[in-house]
Amino acid sequence: MSSQGGLRPEDIVNLEAYPIADCEDPARAALVERLRSELDSNQYCVLPAFMRHAARERAVAEAMAARHMAHHIRDRRNCYLQRDLDPSLPGDHPRNLLFDTSSRMIAYDLIPADSPLKTLYHWAATRRLVADIVGAEALYDNADPYQPANLLCFEDGDRSSWHFDSGNAFTVTLMLQAPEAGGAFEMVPNARSDHDPNHDYLRAVLQGGRSQDIVEVAREPGSLCIFRGCNSLHRVSPVSGGALRVMGVLVYETEPGVVGDPEVNETVYGPRVAITG
Ligand SMILES: [Fe+2]
Repeated sequence: MSSQGGLRPEDIVNLEAYPIADCEDPARAALVERLRSELDSNQYCVLPAFMRHAARERAVAEAMAARHMAHHIRDRRNCYLQRDLDPSLPGDHPRNLLFDTSSRMIAYDLIPADSPLKTLYHWAATRRLVADIVGAEALYDNADPYQPANLLCFEDGDRSSWHFDSGNAFTVTLMLQAPEAGGAFEMVPNARSDHDPNHDYLRAVLQGGRSQDIVEVAREPGSLCIFRGCNSLHRVSPVSGGALRVMGVLVYETEPGVVGDPEVNETVYGPRVAITG
C-alpha cells in the first residue's frame, strides 16, 4: 500500500464542492457560516460527498486489511457510559437502564502512515474548517499514539446503544462504507441540558416512547459529520448483512499535546496498548 505513495489533500477532499483550501475564499466563508448555523440549531451538520471516491475506496481497503487487529468493544452500559447499577435509584431510572453495545476499533498506529484518512486529518485546512464550524479559536491534532484518527467498524449485529459523549464538546466522523442494512445514526437533540438532567424524558426515550423525537442523520459514504453529543442522546442502530460499516473518527483538541488516559485507551484499543511495569 505504501509503495503507491500517499494521495494529496486535493485528491482526497472534494474541493469543487468544499473550497476549504483558501481561508480568504468568500465561498468558504459562506460554507462555514451555513454549517455553523446548522450545527448550532440541529446539534449536527453533514457535508455530503466530502471525500473523493478513490480516497474513500482506499481508506475502506485499509480498514479491511487491518480489521483482524481491531479491538472488539463489547459492553452493557447506560446512557452515561457506566456499566454498574445504582441500587439507591429505581430500576427504571436512566442510570439503571443498561443496553448492549458492540463495535470494533482500529487505532491510529494500525493505519498506514500514508492513509488518506491520516492525510485528511493532519491537513491544516481540515483542522481550520472544523475549528471555524465549531467556533473554536484554534484546534490541534491529538498527540496520543492511538487516538488521533481511528477506523470504527460495525459488523453484522454490532450497534452502539443510546449515550451521551463525555468530555468531547464535538465529534467529527467520516462515513467510509455503509452496511447492507441498519447502522443508522440516530439522535435526540438536546435531550438534556447543562442545567437539567431531564431524567423523566430520558427514561421515556430509552424505553422507546419518544420515537417522534428521534432524528435520523442521513449520511452517504464520503460524508463528513460534525455533531455535539454531550447533551444530545445518540446511537447507531444494529447493523445487518455482510458489509462492514466503516467510519473514520477524527479527534481534534482545543490545546496542543493532549494524550489519552491509559485506562481509557486500554478499554477502547484493547490489552495490547496496556502500559506494563
Ligand atoms: Fe458518541
